[in-house]
Amino acid sequence: MTAPAPISNRPPTRQAGQALLLDVVGLSKRFGGVQAVKDLDFTVAEGEIVALIGPNGAGKTTAFALISGFLTSDAGRVTFAGRDLRGLAPHQVNALGLARTFQIMRPFPRLTVVRNVMIATLGRHADVAEAERRARAVLDELGLGAKADRPAGGLTLAERKRLELARALGTEPRLLLLDEVMSGLTDAETERIVELVRAINRRGIAILLIEHVMRAVMSLAQRIVVLNYGERIAEGRPESVANDPRVIEAYLGDEEVARAPA
Ligand SMILES: Nc1ncnc2c1ncn2[C@@H]1O[C@H](COP(=O)(O)OP(=O)(O)OP(=O)(O)O)[C@@H](O)[C@H]1O
Ligand SMILES: [Mg+2]
Repeated sequence: MTAPAPISNRPPTRQAGQALLLDVVGLSKRFGGVQAVKDLDFTVAEGEIVALIGPNGAGKTTAFALISGFLTSDAGRVTFAGRDLRGLAPHQVNALGLARTFQIMRPFPRLTVVRNVMIATLGRHADVAEAERRARAVLDELGLGAKADRPAGGLTLAERKRLELARALGTEPRLLLLDEVMSGLTDAETERIVELVRAINRRGIAILLIEHVMRAVMSLAQRIVVLNYGERIAEGRPESVANDPRVIEAYLGDEEVARAPA
């Protein structure tokens, strides 16, 4: 298969009037023989919802890990709110207002749901009572208030996805990176998360989401960035990306994606 021509010089389709929040330039990461992310450029504007899509192994989660300081890039630059993130540890990136969820969720199962979220809110509020108040407020917002005092280990998958969202939101981010928070959910549960993400965004929080559930992507994203073999192969508004032959060939034509629920 011939690789499509790189388009990294194409200017981003950022809307006029929106300030730049995240600026990724030339980001690259290799694992042994695998070029997981290759010369990746994209932006997220203040308050925007951007989706990062592409086939399994395309490098989406790796891009998140590079942006959020969990991995060190081989090349490239990530600027967030005007700050160069180079060399910063994950907690330092988080303190600047960038939070992520994990595709492989690791809540503390024996701790209560609210204590899991307090691990996040305590980073912002040293006062324990205030941290707890904030954690409960986030859980209420995400519809988990009634489960706050139960052990996290007893949550259903859909609830654990929302807890993962709560733990990220509890750090009071300006930009939230969501890694497949809808995967494995029923249509109704997916719809609920879509509405929650929309509500979070209405509070002024920008969203960068990795998602295979295309209906959710199409309804949420103002802009879509498509990765294939670590490279950006398309970028633009949902309608134009969905009709891009390169995207259909690399990803959307995939039966799994076409058949995916929701
Ligand atoms: N820590 C690692 N060590 C070695 N290889 C890795 C590591 N993390 C990811 N990879 C490889 O890098 C490539 C990109 O993986 P990544 O997890 O970023 O893909 P993805 O787009 O998130 O896929 P998915 O949709 O399945 O979650 C894959 O080939 C993967 O096997
Ligand atoms: Mg992934």
